[in-house]
Amino acid sequence: MKVLVTGGAGFIASHTDVELLQAGYEVVVLDNLYNASEEALKRVEKITGKPVTFYKEDIRNEAGMEEIFKKEKPDAVIHFAGLKAVGESCREPLKYFDNNFTGTINLLKVMERTGCKNLVFSSSATVYGIPETVPITEDAPLSVLNPYGRTKLVIEDMLRDIYAADSTWNIALLRYFNPIGAHESGEIGEDPQGIPNNLLPYVAKVAVGELECINVFGDDYDTPDGTGVRDYIHVVDLAIGHIKALEKLATNPGIVTYNLGTGIGYSVLDIIHNFEKACGKTLPYKIVERRPGDAAICYSDPTKAEKELGWKAERGIDKMCEDSWRWQSKNPKGYNA
Ligand code: NAD
Ligand code: UD1
Repeated sequence: MKVLVTGGAGFIASHTDVELLQAGYEVVVLDNLYNASEEALKRVEKITGKPVTFYKEDIRNEAGMEEIFKKEKPDAVIHFAGLKAVGESCREPLKYFDNNFTGTINLLKVMERTGCKNLVFSSSATVYGIPETVPITEDAPLSVLNPYGRTKLVIEDMLRDIYAADSTWNIALLRYFNPIGAHESGEIGEDPQGIPNNLLPYVAKVAVGELECINVFGDDYDTPDGTGVRDYIHVVDLAIGHIKALEKLATNPGIVTYNLGTGIGYSVLDIIHNFEKACGKTLPYKIVERRPGDAAICYSDPTKAEKELGWKAERGIDKMCEDSWRWQSKNPKGYNA
């Protein structure tokens, strides 16, 4: 079975490519390399000993994509391609609507025309907005806090409409919580350009000496230590969730939605202290203002995925920090060393 992976050179996708190849799928990657390096795909090939077919292409180029679909005839698509920086999406909303939304419309048109109607979509816990209660189940109310979140929710809504009109589609909406960690080989991992927005890559860059001090965004939340609590999930567990979703699509389920998280919440300070254990250093941090739009606590109820996909996250916080550190210390400058 052949899977076309949009954004396939990115962080979560490269780990998914590895799991796909190891499970016996053929992998075709389509990526414009806006936020990725072709080196990631070479490393995927190195880890698995299997080839990846790569097209440098943009999901906003409908004609270019159609050619690839006609040539490759994929059985399913995993759609990771997208921009994901929340702050940037507030400053440049059109860029996000164009890339994420228009790009997805183009992809869906090409899939429909070429008769490939099996799709796994990278959604996000961001579609829950500030959760009213935790743990969050898939039927919790949906809302958005920023243009990035809006692109995810609008795409989800669009996919529900498409399925309502044509039930020959099979679609899995996967709502990721906070993916961190790296492949245990240390060959692939998260390689953010510039100063990272997210906690884990920031901590890793302080640990490796590239940044000076971690800014903790608020310690007066109503949480056990006052800092924000999130559901961090090892990227390899997340990647395996995609294989399970593809297996589910093969049973013609229609449109299905799953949280991919661990169900466990860790605070910012928990993360810093676990990372200190992993790297064997004390990490400097200071408490600063809250970041606008941040929830105090956000963690999943992952039982639906366990029941219906037979999937459960298995790697704990120690492993997440150790693998993150191995990647960061082996590749202090990321893929472009
Ligand atoms: P990433 O930036 O590493 O991967 C995205 C990939 O898409 C990159 O390789 C980029 O070059 C490519 N891309 C972007 N625009 C494209 C376009 N127009 N045409 C072709 N390729 C394009 O990010 P990631 O963290 O691996 O995230 C993957 C997906 O998961 C994204 O859709 C993101 O919104 C979603 N997601 C990520 C997180 C997270 O915390 N990392 C959480 C929830 C959801
Ligand atoms: C953020 C995005 C969310 C997106 C997700 C994955 C915001 C408001 N939310 O989620 O939409 O789906 O990334 O890309 O940007 N923190 C610090 N210092 C830092 C960075 C973060 O204290 O330098 C804290 C945050 O306040 C939060 C926790 O660490 O409590 C995790 O933050 P982050 O990694 O950015 O993820 P989310 O905010 O959950």
